[in-house]
Amino acid sequence: MDTRPIGVFDSGLGGLTAVRQLRRVLPGEDIVYFGDTGRVPYGSRGRQTIVQYARQDIRFLLSQNVKFLMAACGTVSSTYPSDEAARLPVPYTGVVGAAARKAAQATRNGRVGVIGTAATIRSGSYAAQLRELVPGVQIVARACPLFVPLVENGHVGDGDPVTTLVIDQYLREVRDAGVDTLILGCTHYPLLKKMIGEYMGDAVTLIDPGKVTAIETAAALADLDLTSGRAEGGRVRYYVSDTPEAFTELETLFLGEYAGGAVEQIAIETY
Ligand code: DGL
Repeated sequence: MDTRPIGVFDSGLGGLTAVRQLRRVLPGEDIVYFGDTGRVPYGSRGRQTIVQYARQDIRFLLSQNVKFLMAACGTVSSTYPSDEAARLPVPYTGVVGAAARKAAQATRNGRVGVIGTAATIRSGSYAAQLRELVPGVQIVARACPLFVPLVENGHVGDGDPVTTLVIDQYLREVRDAGVDTLILGCTHYPLLKKMIGEYMGDAVTLIDPGKVTAIETAAALADLDLTSGRAEGGRVRYYVSDTPEAFTELETLFLGEYAGGAVEQIAIETY
């Protein structure tokens, strides 16, 4: 039993979609969330910069005495080296492994779509894991850079005309390739799930990496004897690297049930 918090981080506030899922499956766990709102986006940056940012994010969370680290960010999960992750003083998970496993279970025809930021798609992270899990899998991967600003600017309503147009631009080729499973490989995309689902059709299973990683995290904590032992009452502390005002503007979008609570600004470049 271990009452230390779980550390969750993301390039910004999109990772709150994963916090929401974690709170659903682990209501008795404390969580420390760090959103690098001063340096978002990561997804259009080069590998070295993303790794350097991830190292600082992790050092900050370790300074908060966390017992488990979760990179909620698709871009970090695809870029942070696994050998380095294995040497961290506490267990670490990204979101790629759990999502790839779920997609491997879900596909019937062996054709899987992957969408994410430019860095995520360039890394080939999902494709590499899927190839190990599904022999002969066909992968249709597509970077969808406009989805992040669309979500952050509130274009998430059902039938939003701008988002509808962009979905058609990005996903037509993926849909026409006949995938039966699509990994929503970026923190923001679950907010477009309904619209993407309608576009892709009922026969296509959509995988939300934050959701499946939260479920695997709950199992991992139990296996490692790291659960808090509480059935409810977990609290979340929020940290950001830009002014907290931006947090309060976007939190409801990503977190849903957020009911207030301290949001503190930290100087991430000092970690
Ligand atoms: N959090 C990022 C991801 O999941 C999206 C935003 C960004 O580009 O930093 O890939």
